Amino acid sequence: MVDIHCHILFGMDDGADSTETSLAMAEMAIADGVTHVIATPHANNEYDFIPELVRSRRDEIQSRIGDRLAIATGCDFHLSFENLEALRADPQRFTLNQGDYLLVEFADFAIPASLDQTLHQLQLLGLHPIITHPERNPLIRSQWDRLWAWLRQGCYVQVTAQSIRGGFGRRAQQAAERLLDANAVHFVASDAHNVTTRPLRLKPAFDALAESKGESFARALLEENPRAALESRPLPYRPEPADWKGLENKTESSPPRKRFWFF
Ligand SMILES: [Fe+2]
Repeated sequence: MVDIHCHILFGMDDGADSTETSLAMAEMAIADGVTHVIATPHANNEYDFIPELVRSRRDEIQSRIGDRLAIATGCDFHLSFENLEALRADPQRFTLNQGDYLLVEFADFAIPASLDQTLHQLQLLGLHPIITHPERNPLIRSQWDRLWAWLRQGCYVQVTAQSIRGGFGRRAQQAAERLLDANAVHFVASDAHNVTTRPLRLKPAFDALAESKGESFARALLEENPRAALESRPLPYRPEPADWKGLENKTESSPPRKRFWFF
């Protein structure tokens, strides 16, 4: 499997906190059946993103781990004005493996109306935006029509592996299920931060998807599409999304009504 989103490099952000943690995360990935990871430190108001430093950390961990796991670099790109300015000047500074795919993270508290235009501008730069973990974002969960507009625009969606097994709570799990059912997911990634609460593990999600939707589906989301993004190729699995209307108000609504109690 190929993991396109993880915080395996130490001292960059709220991910790995030491060389030992980075190495333990790498060992965890190897044991899990992961062959390639893209280290994607945050670039947001809290954490500076310095590609030269990211690359030197990558080299350090890569040399310690040898050829058992290939580590590439990218960025967990927060859509802020400053980041967008820097991106326009040099897109490959932020993209996955310095190619054409870009992880895009939204704030939990506000998604401006101008976002549709911003995503379009990224596409005009030749980039493929990948919207990260919408199932964990309460704002998107209450406005599926907006996510669908971005999908129709040609954006892709990455769901977090842990969400599929309920690691981010029932609402995120339900939202992940509904997105998967609606053919609205292109990638599953770990978004790992450590070896305990946010592990670098994909196999549990792979097994759950293989069981519910078949092995070729699991392969598409955890091997084939991620590998294509790593290598800047078109995605082999690009399904036509089903109508979003079936998802509306189901994942962020009040608890399910007991419909038949008065009978
Ligand atoms: Fe992340």
